[in-house]
Amino acid sequence: MSAGTDLTIAVPRGALFIDTVALLERLGLDVRELRSNERKLVFEDIGVITTRPSDVPKYVAAGAADVGITGKDNLLEQAPQRPAGAREVYELLDLGYGRCTMVLASKAGADPAAEALRRLGVMRVATKYPRIAAGHFGARGVPVEIIELSGSVELAPVTGLADCIVDLVETGRTLAENGLVVVETITESTGRFVVNRASYQLKAAAVGEIVKALGAALDGED
Ligand code: PRP
Repeated sequence: MSAGTDLTIAVPRGALFIDTVALLERLGLDVRELRSNERKLVFEDIGVITTRPSDVPKYVAAGAADVGITGKDNLLEQAPQRPAGAREVYELLDLGYGRCTMVLASKAGADPAAEALRRLGVMRVATKYPRIAAGHFGARGVPVEIIELSGSVELAPVTGLADCIVDLVETGRTLAENGLVVVETITESTGRFVVNRASYQLKAAAVGEIVKALGAALDGED
């Protein structure tokens, strides 16, 4: 990083990208190439790698990056943490941006998911977040069949592949455009700054410095 640290930071492409790049710019990084080159993945000069938000925790946990930024949704969806003290990534800051809501949604009108549950004793739930969905329904004792999809999950209830979806909502436009409505809010998500255990311990000074700088930038102090 330009602040003189030797940290590698995993930056999420997608919805969190613009705000993340703006934040890094406020830290003094030269983000011009990062901002303009959508295809390049490694920006060695500024210690940045870019990847999908859902993969950021994997790169950080494996030590391929020291720190990273991803959504709380992706952290919740990671494999369950090992016993206390052995967490793979630590969440150090809530960045506040990238706010969205994880919801249960189904077709407008008579709730087809509730109907399926009543008639068949099980609901088919399409999602990109199988762990979050399974955890949510498991905690409530609701029998579900999880159908894991890679994207555009709103299509599933519209076509009859599933009775409902568990997915993120930001503006609500995708749900509305496909005749779906929120049945229940499961959790809120925002961007989070994470670090792996080794870097947290071995590069404590550099990690502390960037956390402080991020905090100041978020507070508008610069
Ligand atoms: C996300 C999410 C919803 C949509 C919600 O999908 O899974 O589909 O955005 O946004 P909205 O409430 O503002 O309409 P994404 O754009 O990441 O695409 P994907 O479904 O193909 O993964």
